[in-house]
Amino acid sequence: MEQQLKQLEQEALARIEAAVSLKELNDVRVAYLGKKGPITDLLKGMGKLSAEERPKMGALVNTVRENLTDVLTAKSAALEEAAIQEQLEKESIDVTLPGAKVQIGNRHPLTRVIEEIEDLFVSMGYEIAEGPEVEKDYYNFEALNLPKGHPARDMQDSFYISEEILLRTHTSPVQARTMEAKKGEPIRIICPGKVFRRDTDDATHSHQFMQIEGLVIGDNIRMSDLKGTLDALAKKMFGAEREIRLRPSFFPFTEPSVEVDVSCHKCGGAGCNVCKKTGWIEILGAGMVHPNVLEMAGYDSKKVSGFAFGIGAERIAMLKYGVDDIRHFYTNDVRFLSQFHRSEG
Ligand code: DAH
Repeated sequence: MEQQLKQLEQEALARIEAAVSLKELNDVRVAYLGKKGPITDLLKGMGKLSAEERPKMGALVNTVRENLTDVLTAKSAALEEAAIQEQLEKESIDVTLPGAKVQIGNRHPLTRVIEEIEDLFVSMGYEIAEGPEVEKDYYNFEALNLPKGHPARDMQDSFYISEEILLRTHTSPVQARTMEAKKGEPIRIICPGKVFRRDTDDATHSHQFMQIEGLVIGDNIRMSDLKGTLDALAKKMFGAEREIRLRPSFFPFTEPSVEVDVSCHKCGGAGCNVCKKTGWIEILGAGMVHPNVLEMAGYDSKKVSGFAFGIGAERIAMLKYGVDDIRHFYTNDVRFLSQFHRSEG
């Protein structure tokens, strides 16, 4: 019997040694140590042994059982460890591989131009004002000295919602709205925003575009203040060497009115294709606020004066960045927009 036990132990140890999976190992455990296994059988057969052989044999069976249990446990741990190792190797990450690139966007060129202009004017003590895009005929035209039937209305054909309501054709109505709200107080504002005109879209026209309006009202505001302010604007947007010149013009809401040119940033004034060989580029309209406009908004035109200007944001961006077609700003082509990435400041 002892012989038989030794043999069983050897067999079991060999099978444990050979097992390559936890399942196989469990099969061995069940086969040798299970209720129906040979060792249990041996224990059951001990009744037939003599009284002095029985405890000896019992101790032997127990030793074999404990030994097999220990070896099984150790092997099971080894197999588990090997399985984890194998999984780790399979799933290992090569941290030296390049990562997935995150695409970071950048500000739209028009936003950049507007923010630059805002920064300049805020640094000069201006506030930023806003007004509605769907505007009353009164603010868009009448309060700006353009009564119904005035021929200068034809310069800005618009999208009418009704007789009295339209999409604003310029940001100038914010002048009238601000004056009304400030009730005779001094004013220093700029107002960037969308405007709309019934124009046919082409390389230089768009039915929707952006303007930045400026308005200053106070005691003794003079044309020289306007000129100095616009000179600072031209230098900020196109370089410290730029100069401006004022040419007489007409706007119903200013008197006198001017068109403002900046010396060409490409040729420095010598004449090139950007400035059409003139050395100057037109950038905006401006003037001294018309007395009628002041009076209609409740300001005493004998006591206070003011200047105003209107800048086309697209025009500034096209000149500054050398963009040849206004439609590039609106079509959201990433090939165009991403060109403004690196110089982001
Ligand atoms: N509102 C004018 C336009 O859209 C631009 C303009 C000219 C605005 C002179 C002004 C100004 O404030 O004084 O054509």
